[in-house]
Formats: sequence, C-alpha cells, structure tokens
Amino acid sequence: MQLSVVILAAGQGKRMNSDLPKVLQPLAGEPLLKHVISAARALNPNDIYVVYGHGGAQVQAALAQEPVEWVLQADQLGTGHAVMQAMCLIPDDHAVLVLYGDVPLISAASLAKLIAAAGENALAILSVNLDEARGYGRIVRNADGQVVAIVEHKDASPEQLEIREVNSGLMAAPAGPLREWLLGLGRDNTQREYFLTDVVAGAARTGTRIEAIRAANALEVAGVNDKIQLSAVEAGYRRLRAEELMLAGATLADPTRIEIRGDVQVGRDVFIDINAVLIGNVHLGAGVKVGPNCVISNSQIGEGTELFANCVIDRAIIAQNCCIGPFARLRPGTVMHREVHIGNFVEVKNTEIGAGSKANHLTYLGDSFLGKKVNVGAGSITCNYDGVNKWPTFIEDGAFIGSGTMMVAPVRIGAGSNTGAGSTIVSNTPNDKLTFARSQQTTKEHWKRPVKLNEEEKAAIVAKKTQKPKD
Ligand code: UD1
Ligand code: CA
Repeated sequence: MQLSVVILAAGQGKRMNSDLPKVLQPLAGEPLLKHVISAARALNPNDIYVVYGHGGAQVQAALAQEPVEWVLQADQLGTGHAVMQAMCLIPDDHAVLVLYGDVPLISAASLAKLIAAAGENALAILSVNLDEARGYGRIVRNADGQVVAIVEHKDASPEQLEIREVNSGLMAAPAGPLREWLLGLGRDNTQREYFLTDVVAGAARTGTRIEAIRAANALEVAGVNDKIQLSAVEAGYRRLRAEELMLAGATLADPTRIEIRGDVQVGRDVFIDINAVLIGNVHLGAGVKVGPNCVISNSQIGEGTELFANCVIDRAIIAQNCCIGPFARLRPGTVMHREVHIGNFVEVKNTEIGAGSKANHLTYLGDSFLGKKVNVGAGSITCNYDGVNKWPTFIEDGAFIGSGTMMVAPVRIGAGSNTGAGSTIVSNTPNDKLTFARSQQTTKEHWKRPVKLNEEEKAAIVAKKTQKPKD
C-alpha cells in the first residue's frame, strides 16, 4: 500500500508561553517539527503533509528546505479537524500515518510496526506503558487482548485508572475508512474541538479491528506541551545519543553533560570530557581526546589528536596526532596535517598547515599556507585583509617566524628562513636567511622619569598640545 504521512503542526502551544510556535521550539538545536519530518522521511512515504496554521509563515520559512507538502488549517478546531484538512489530498487506497509535530522522538521502527498493524483494514494506535499515567486516555482490551475502547482519564472507572497502557495519539489506518470516521466526528466536549482520538469510537462502531501497538519506550511518544516537558525530552535525547557514542567506544566523563546536535561518529577509545558540544557532522577518530568545554561543529578530527580545554572548532579537518588548545579557535577552512600543534589563543581561518608545524601562542593565521615543520612565534599575525580584499600568506617548509612578526599579505616567507622578532614583513623573504624589518634600538641618555602633575598643570599641557590648527 502507498503511504501518506500527515504531521499535525498547526497548534499554538499556549502552554509554552513563547512567541515561537511550539513546533519550532528547539530540541538538540533543531525545531521539534524537523525531528518529526526526519522520522517520517525514514519510512520513504509517497507524501508528507504538514498541517500548519498558527505562526504559519514562520513555520514554513524555518522548514523551507524540507520535502513536504504544506496544508493550511486556518482555524485550529482540533486534531481530528487538522487531519481532515489533508484528507482531500490523499487517495482512498493509501495508508495514512498521523504524527504529531510535538512528539519529536518517535522511532522509525515503531512507526513501521504501526503501519504494518493497520494493514488494509484495521485502525492501529500507538500505545505506551506508563507508571505515571495521569491525564492520558487508557487503552481498554478484552479478555482476548483486543482493544475495545480508549477511555479518557476523567471518564475512567477506578479499575480502568489502574491500566498503565495509555494512548500516545499517533495512529495509522487505510485512507478510505479513516475519512468516514473523521466525517463522523463531533465537537461534543469541553474544548469544543474535533478530537482525532474519537475515531477509535467510530472504528469500533463499524466493527473495524483496532490494534494497539506498544511503543518501545515512553520517550519516543513523549509529547512536548510546555518547557518542562521540552527539557525532559532534551534530557532523554541527550541520554540516547550519549549511549550511542558509548556503545561505539567513547568514554564520556559525564553522559549528562554532553550536547550532541547532529550526526556524530566516534572511533574506539575516544575520551570526551564534560560540557562538549558536538554540532552537525562530526567525526572523531580512534583515541581522540576532547577536553572540557570544547565546541566542535562539522569537523573531522584524526586519530590520536588531543583537544585541550575550551577549543572552538568549526568546519575544520584535522589529521592524526595533533595537539590543539587550550583556548584555540579553528574557523572554517582550517586543514591540518599530522602532528601539528596549535596552542592557546591561536585563531586559524581558511589555512592549511603542513605536518609537524607549530603555532603555540597568541597568533592569527588567516588565508595562509604553511609548509612542514614551520614554527610560528608568539604573537605573530598574517595581515590578510587590507580593508577591502583578503590576501594569502605562504610560509614555506621549515620557516621560523620570530615572535610578533606581522606578515602583510600577499607575501611569501622562504623555506628554512627566519624572521626577526617584531618584524613587519611586507615583501617576500629569501630561503635560508634571517630577515628582519624594525627600527634601530636607541637609548635616550638624558631621559628622566615623568613627575606627578596636579590637575591644573595637566590641563595646561593638554590645552597647549592638542590645540586645533587654525584654518
Ligand atoms: C493529544 C491527544 C491525547 C494524547 C496526547 C499525546 C487529542 C484530542 N488528544 O493531546 O489523547 O494523549 O496528544 O501527546 O488528539 N494540532 C493541530 N491543529 C489543531 C490542534 C492541534 O495541528 O487544531 C497539532 C498541534 O500542533 C500538536 C498536535 O496537533 O502538534 C497535538 O495537539 P495538542 O494540543 O498538543 O494535543 P494534546 O493535548 O497533547
Ligand atoms: Ca501535545
């Protein structure tokens, strides 16, 4: 059967008390709705319809890249009404899977089970066992284990309140019958809404088989209605992602203090200290050590490389056995060959650094190419920007850049050469020679230390020395 997925995302999310529509609230750095769309895409459906309404333009703009069809629900008259808006686009012979934009961690495995259980003629709902089931509809089964009803918490008898299997709200059904059940919905409830959950009663009336498939765990069906639930889902997600890394061989100093916002791959025996934030596509090779408070986004770190505390690394490629930080910033376009050392307060941007080269203290390397075994002394800077254009600096193999060298790009520092400390290098330097560019050192024989002046004396001097020229 062909599959159409309907994702409900039109609600305002009043309980969030936020200007941001609920389905755009971030979980692991991505909107809730994006997580749901990803789960839907994993099933390879024919179509994904997102029912939107509250904060419509904002929601569409935030997810403009997603391959989904947008269906407007102009007035939010309830979850059943929301599904109805999409039904006119879905042929009778499709299976329909309904997902909620605020149930972000649903697994593809449970959804596949749900769809299979619905088949061509059943209504399948996703249930979950909860110890604390307050507020949820209870799933009532007969002696044969067949679902016969969903009883809302407030309508349940004392025996029914003991039932721990509850309704997640997600469901699958063939489009033809689902359409009929939806047309039969009323708004005879305190909220005056068309409840999707009432299709269960409709299905039961027509003698349709109702299957309740149990979710693997409570987290995957957890709904996010307020900031407390958002933080609980975030914590659960963090735990899951941390467990994936640990199973792949990473040691985490504290699995509750790592942020994984994307697709992170780790080799064996990686060690990650507290407060690491890993964003986008991050690959950490075997034996990599990540110090406390490092932020790594969309980067590859080679085997055996060590990042000391407080490094910020974005779109960099780092080879094996490098030492980075503490307090290093590697910006996009940084490429490091093996055994490179980058020390504290060093910023690197759009720069390739050859094997065994070092820049250990207080340096800026931008738009530059460093050969092998280069040593960049403390406080040296590639002056890559003239205020309008960016220019490259080439530092050839084995060059030794004296402390505080300003390399005014475009410029080439010859292989095996030295620059003198404090030099401002504006033209190319020859290989294997020492080049320095700085004024002669002088000593003033008759100099005396300044003496302390009173305010009046100071004012007189300032007035005299800073007089504006007459025009
Ligand atoms: C819903 C279920 C409840 C279930 C719970 C599980 C109904 C009536 N209730 O309650 O049985 O236990 O989820 O999480 O379905 N939405 C629209 N249009 C609307 C109303 C809502 O698109 O007119 C969307 C919301 O944006 C949200 C989703 O539907 O993504 C669920 O709505 P919400 O109001 O959060 O329902 P719950 O009260 O959580
Ligand atoms: Ca909800």
